[in-house]
Amino acid sequence: MIGITEIAPEVYWLGAKHPELRDFDELFPTSNGSTYNAYLVRGREKVALIDTVKAPFTKDYLDRVASLVPLEQIDLLVVNHTEPDHCGALGALLERNPNIEIYCTKPAENFLKQLYDIPMKTRVVAEGQELDLGGKTLRFLLAPNLHWPDTMFTYLPEQQLLFSCDAFGAHFCGDSLFDDEVPDFSSDFIGYYDAIMRPFKEKIREAVAKVEGLDIQVICPSHGPLRRRDPKSVIASYRTLSAAPPETGRKRALLLTLSPHGNTRNMAAAVRAGMESRGVEVVELAIYGTPAGTIRDELECADALVIGTPTINRDAPPQVWQALSLVSTVTPKGRIGAVFGSYGWSGEAVKLIEERLVGLKYTLAAPGLHYRFTPTEADIAACRGLGEQIGAALLGDK
Ligand code: FEO
Repeated sequence: MIGITEIAPEVYWLGAKHPELRDFDELFPTSNGSTYNAYLVRGREKVALIDTVKAPFTKDYLDRVASLVPLEQIDLLVVNHTEPDHCGALGALLERNPNIEIYCTKPAENFLKQLYDIPMKTRVVAEGQELDLGGKTLRFLLAPNLHWPDTMFTYLPEQQLLFSCDAFGAHFCGDSLFDDEVPDFSSDFIGYYDAIMRPFKEKIREAVAKVEGLDIQVICPSHGPLRRRDPKSVIASYRTLSAAPPETGRKRALLLTLSPHGNTRNMAAAVRAGMESRGVEVVELAIYGTPAGTIRDELECADALVIGTPTINRDAPPQVWQALSLVSTVTPKGRIGAVFGSYGWSGEAVKLIEERLVGLKYTLAAPGLHYRFTPTEADIAACRGLGEQIGAALLGDK
């Protein structure tokens, strides 16, 4: 049947292709479409499905499954991850065969109950647990937060296949399923990592450690080409992309400023001097005009985030909020924060940004400072004191 590919003996790809997709979940651009990869593994005793597809592709998916194995003879479904692009056909599948057992993690079991109000026979798996299908073994490897708490990998040792869910994927839809038969999609691979995986670098390092010693012929992710050209290099690329920031032996602060009339930036100079007097390395960037990518990179190297913001129309400027919105898109190194700024007639911004930093799990090194219009000599001295307090917080001084 069209749309089924046997990727190893009795192991089939029967997912969906979505080449015209141009945005994923209204969150990320997908200029080369995507795929929702789903698999069927037929053992001597049991037949397993691994993940399903996004809901609009349900009918074709079920037709593909049924063309290989009657739906009532499917024994189990492995849910590596519950996000609807992989569980969209779950309800229709269980309607046709309510006896299917669902193998998943404990968080996935909870999410399934909250996502789909249908009876399910769930079987929660433990790390390394194996399921014998008869000549084919499914080994479950928990991979929490790649990129949801529910995520796991499934490894098929007899064929050396790793079903890695979203990890190692790419939003790319080629004419072929395999990475060695499609044009270069490295930018889609990197963009996907950057958009989806980057906030979870510590968890990625843990998951990579679980699989880099496995014998793997093909990585079978949930999106994009199957990786058979050099699976080890794909895993190694996640190791590199998720590396911890280098240790320099010095604490480092990222000082972001926005200063329409120069007053906030004059305050920043004093804050910076205070931090540097405590041995802190300071990277100062003007928020306006600095590429988001630069700020994201620096957030991952900074032990502290210090914001200098004016108040405009009773708020921090949109550019400051935009800069703060980048925090949740990366793996920040440290979570010490501080805020200061000049204002004209009200001065709400410092308080608002402090609250946002606390909401982002930062600990404030000291109460913020805000001064009206041009800071006085005493104000500047206080700013230097703020910098020294940030330095003390970074060094763990009382
Ligand atoms: Fe492809 Fe997190 O779903």
